[in-house]
Amino acid sequence: MLNLILFGPPGSGKGTQSQLVIEKYGLIHISTGELLRNEISIGTPLGQEAEQFIQKGQLVPDEVVIGMLSTVLEKHPRSKGYIFDGFPRTAAQSEALDKLLSLRKTAITKVLSLEVPEDELVRRLLERGKTSGRVDDANEEIIRARIVEYHNKTVPVADHYARVGKFKKVKGDGTIEETFELLCNEIDSLVAVEA
Ligand code: AP5
Ligand code: MG
Repeated sequence: MLNLILFGPPGSGKGTQSQLVIEKYGLIHISTGELLRNEISIGTPLGQEAEQFIQKGQLVPDEVVIGMLSTVLEKHPRSKGYIFDGFPRTAAQSEALDKLLSLRKTAITKVLSLEVPEDELVRRLLERGKTSGRVDDANEEIIRARIVEYHNKTVPVADHYARVGKFKKVKGDGTIEETFELLCNEIDSLVAVEA
């Protein structure tokens, strides 16, 4: 299996690039942000709890997200692999993911981290906020709060995978096509090793 984590701060292009990657490599896309927005839109208790945090730019509690992820993995037991987008975001989440995958006799192959300067992140998200309706894109204060959460709680996840040689930075501030090409170069080298 090829199990990738597409890593990076809010607005770095994780969702955009995941879409392109699944089309080319046939992986299953798991975005915890999208799953949570879906729970909110259908008004489940989980969605109502998550919304309190999302609208402030804060991370949703680990137990909520980990439970949700475990359910989703059960729905897709057979897959060529997964691309995790926006998960794991804390040390507890990365530990839980490693365990869930090892129960399935698999593991994370590589973490690909999209590197984009902060000013560009804010510019992209303010621009999207004009039309997306996403509460967490509503203003610069919330967007900056998301970036602070990323630095405080999510960056340590990078160290966790770097220690085991599974972390790779990818330049993410070019065009969508340029970034996709850089990601494909990385993924093709992983596929070659697996084959
Ligand atoms: P989530 O939905 O994961 O959002 P995020 O990580 O904050 O990032 P975005 O989805 O906004 O950005 P992205 O990196 O996917 O970039 P995109 O491709 O969209 O999480 C939202 C919230 O849910 C969190 O704050 C938290 O509260 C909660 N949550 C989710 N997962 C959680 C977890 N595991 N634990 C706890 N809480 C969790 O691109 C952004 C914009 O830029 C788009 O408009 C796009 O068109 C544009 N763009 C993309 N690439 C380029 C490019 N190369 N050039 C120019 N524009 C570009
Ligand atoms: Mg996204």
